[in-house]
Amino acid sequence: MKTLLKLYNRPTVLLCIAVCMFLLLNKVNAQQQLVVETSNNALVLQQDTARHMHMVYLGKKLNNNKSYTQIQSQYQQGTDYSGSLDAAYTAAGTTNLAEPAITVVHADGNRSLDLRYVSHKLERIDDNIVQLSVELQDPVYAFRVTLYYKAYVKEDVIEQWTSISHKEKGSVVLEKYASANLYLKAGSYYLTQYHGDWAKEMQPETAPVTHGIKTLDSKLGTRANLFQPSVFMISLNKTATEDDGDVLYGALEYSGNFRTDIELDHLNNLKILSGMNNYASPYTLTPGETFVTPSFVYLFSSSGKGNASRKLHRWARNYKIVDGHGTRLTLLNNWEATYFDFNENKLAGLIRDTRKLGVDLFLLDDGWFANKYPRNGDVAGLGDWQENKQKLPNGIGALVTEATNTGVKFGIWIEPEMVNPKSELYEKHPDWVIKQPSRAEYYFRNQLVLDLANPKVQDFVFGVIDTLLRKNPALAYLKWDCNAVIYNAHSSYLKNQSHFYIEYMRGLYNVLARVRAKYATLPMMLCSGGGGRVDYAALQYFTEYWPSDNTDPLERIFIQWEYSYFYPAISSSNHVTDWGKQPIKFRTDVAMMGKLGFDIVVSHLSEKELAYCQQAIKNYNQYKNVIWQGDQYRLSDPRTNEVAAVSYVNERRDTAVVFNYLVSNRYEAGSKLPVILKGLDPAKKYRVEEINLMPGTTSALGANTIYSGDFLMNIGLNPLVNSGRSSVVLVLTAQP
Ligand code: GLA
Repeated sequence: MKTLLKLYNRPTVLLCIAVCMFLLLNKVNAQQQLVVETSNNALVLQQDTARHMHMVYLGKKLNNNKSYTQIQSQYQQGTDYSGSLDAAYTAAGTTNLAEPAITVVHADGNRSLDLRYVSHKLERIDDNIVQLSVELQDPVYAFRVTLYYKAYVKEDVIEQWTSISHKEKGSVVLEKYASANLYLKAGSYYLTQYHGDWAKEMQPETAPVTHGIKTLDSKLGTRANLFQPSVFMISLNKTATEDDGDVLYGALEYSGNFRTDIELDHLNNLKILSGMNNYASPYTLTPGETFVTPSFVYLFSSSGKGNASRKLHRWARNYKIVDGHGTRLTLLNNWEATYFDFNENKLAGLIRDTRKLGVDLFLLDDGWFANKYPRNGDVAGLGDWQENKQKLPNGIGALVTEATNTGVKFGIWIEPEMVNPKSELYEKHPDWVIKQPSRAEYYFRNQLVLDLANPKVQDFVFGVIDTLLRKNPALAYLKWDCNAVIYNAHSSYLKNQSHFYIEYMRGLYNVLARVRAKYATLPMMLCSGGGGRVDYAALQYFTEYWPSDNTDPLERIFIQWEYSYFYPAISSSNHVTDWGKQPIKFRTDVAMMGKLGFDIVVSHLSEKELAYCQQAIKNYNQYKNVIWQGDQYRLSDPRTNEVAAVSYVNERRDTAVVFNYLVSNRYEAGSKLPVILKGLDPAKKYRVEEINLMPGTTSALGANTIYSGDFLMNIGLNPLVNSGRSSVVLVLTAQP
């Protein structure tokens, strides 16, 4: 109780407890409502006289929890002929006229489903988590669905999923099985969605939602986000800005095929269904078996996108990503420095460069393995995880020792889910490969995907990692890649091919869970030919993700900006490379907005550039905790301004790091107006210092100027960005 009171103010806690008691004591209240409240929001389900569950509200919490019963009567939008447009979980085959959340074929071949309330449970899991589960049952068939709503009170985040089971006489086929079914009411709706391709991740599009169904989905199997990730936003009534407007963030926590249907109905209300994609995946559920969907995570904000992001970031650090409050290793990667062309000698040099640069770890990328078909390009060797004897006659062990002796850590790249046809693995285990038995193979980056539905393949993949780590206990980092999509989806292991996409993902998560059970906090980067697999289901096994192979810093400002709506800076691996024409300072400053790494030839740096990098890394080490754990504010949007600006403010609000970049080449482009800062303490006085200056240059801002938080948040601060100062990093420190 004391902790609770510390976390929230007294009225909130008392209200919360009152609601919980009320709900626990009464199966449903007089108006048959179930209310889940977070610190700012409420989700309200309502039962009708036939015990159908409806979703009547998702929005700002009301002061009086009895008021929720008055919501529905305020809407006079016309007739819902079906009585089920706002169903808490839309069942197909009875009165439904809209896109269903669930479609089943019963054991007797009947295709109808009617879900009625049986019971519910509202549990307080801990000080911050409340979980509502609602059990529904078909009155005719022994078929059950339980809806779960797990609310993270402080962060306003809800995870929703569904479990499905039955006791019919034979198997039931699930043709659709959404994780979540939401229903929103507003005057108009604006969808922000993303599309992309290799090196073009997270391209946003915002448009009004029109009547009918808009589907966001992936059928790629692996590297599922290549063309479209599952993250999206819905703004209500007007497009939300950083600080204003009602907006719902949503994302499916799933790394495989996903499907989100957004349907604007004839009453002008919006239904959102999200779950695994049912494409080619009717699921045969045996009696007694329980089918659990992945979670759909969502968050409503009535004060714009910035608030939503900061809450989601906190939730991710507190509950999802591995070691969310821990540290991360800065690194030097050799991918772009060498590609496949290296040997022990060259690597020893790079290990020394790692030390010279001042980063924590050397990361050896692709090309270190395979002998019969050496991995000297992306055409061969994938799958044969033995050190290439020509390149590395003394094995990984010698490199790890070399790194340790040099005073840096050592990490390594793997892509254990995949295989080149030109490999011993393919020769030995053709049945482990996903392909149609009597059709020609079709490759993505000259490779195929291994069949993780097969437990033997799961053992193999786990073994790749386990062997590496057992043989080299000092290995400090893994970069887990996944470059191919799934063509010719077929498993020679599975009897039922329509389970394939689902079983693949179950297999993958199985392996990742085994890795984490044994190596709980080993830093691991989630990579998929760039950002082809960035989602919160995968991220619960990883410390960080690779946003894109596109490391052109100008592009990265945009890409990182978009990812930052959904994922915290601590999980964004940003490398300084030779992509782009910007000076090393610009490239490094951009990479510092997350987890800093380098992928350059250190010996190609001039003395000044090297000195700059070394100092920037020291600065980064000093302020990284503000970037990783602080609140992020997107201050100036690169899409609408000549200058992009992003800041991170620590919890005590005594330190802020502000990044400013020129993103336009036009005549006299620059920061004509001050950047209005956010999240500071108006009463505090802040000293402004420019860091990451090239050696020999001084800040145009002058030294040690002091401004009040009030001034900085109302008038702002001009970072003096122009073509001669295209990247400016400022540290604000509160004065005692
Ligand atoms: C993918 C990754 C790159 C690199 C290469 C290696 O494309 O995204 O960072 O590791 O594979 O082949």
